[in-house]
Amino acid sequence: MERRDKVYEGKAKILYNTDDADLAIQYFKDDATAFDATKRGTIASKGICNNKISSVIFKVMEDKGIPTHFVKELDDRSMLVKKVEIIPVEVTLRNITAGGMCRLLGIEEGIILDLPVLEYHYKDDALHDPLFNEYHIFALKIATKEEMDKIADLSFKINQIMIDFFSKRNLDLVDFKLEFGRYKKDILLADEISPDTCRLWEKGTKKKMDKDRFRRDLGDVEAAYQEVLKRVLTVV
Ligand code: TMP
Ligand code: ASP
Repeated sequence: MERRDKVYEGKAKILYNTDDADLAIQYFKDDATAFDATKRGTIASKGICNNKISSVIFKVMEDKGIPTHFVKELDDRSMLVKKVEIIPVEVTLRNITAGGMCRLLGIEEGIILDLPVLEYHYKDDALHDPLFNEYHIFALKIATKEEMDKIADLSFKINQIMIDFFSKRNLDLVDFKLEFGRYKKDILLADEISPDTCRLWEKGTKKKMDKDRFRRDLGDVEAAYQEVLKRVLTVV
């Protein structure tokens, strides 16, 4: 697969065209940002970890019947993906309170939720990815009712698959963010699933094994990403 011009460069990844108009190469960088890129840094080898972790998880999703943009891993930092039109809705699923939900509602971190909480955020850094709901999404024609029904249904299924996957690896899935894209007539899970986009706590110790180590200057950031990769690669 020949890598052509850059389509888009985000904070953590670069998307390149290929010689096939339907396919793109997603390249994972070591750059890390937080708080709408007001905090910037690099996490050594993060791109390699996130490419591999995402590849494994996308394969698990495909095996369980979740359609994704993933085609195959190309090298340490790149995967071949279907070239989707990203829907600018960041879908957040929460199983345990943390981060934005604690700030929004003034509640403490670590409360186990009776039901998973599904949130939508408008994907716009300049606006700080504001929380919004389906009325905004439909009124502004960001996505249709049919598309959002499919996205919600897939998101709850993905949540259960991910809870089970990480649980077997001694990690609790606290919350995570998903992005979906349009591809031909389908809605596909896109972007990445990694410690950048999930909160993962070690069972028992509740040690944070994700990007919160970078956001909150907790140290041992690289070691946490490496440890998650090691566990993800463990066949259980
Ligand atoms: P939040 O608690 O800050 O809203 O984050 C919820 C989850 O979404 C958490 O696992 C981290 C992830 N996330 C992203 O992937 N990108 C983002 O820009 C933000 C704010 C959160
Ligand atoms: N990735 C986001 C940013 O750079 C936020 C985050 O993950 O905390 O701002």
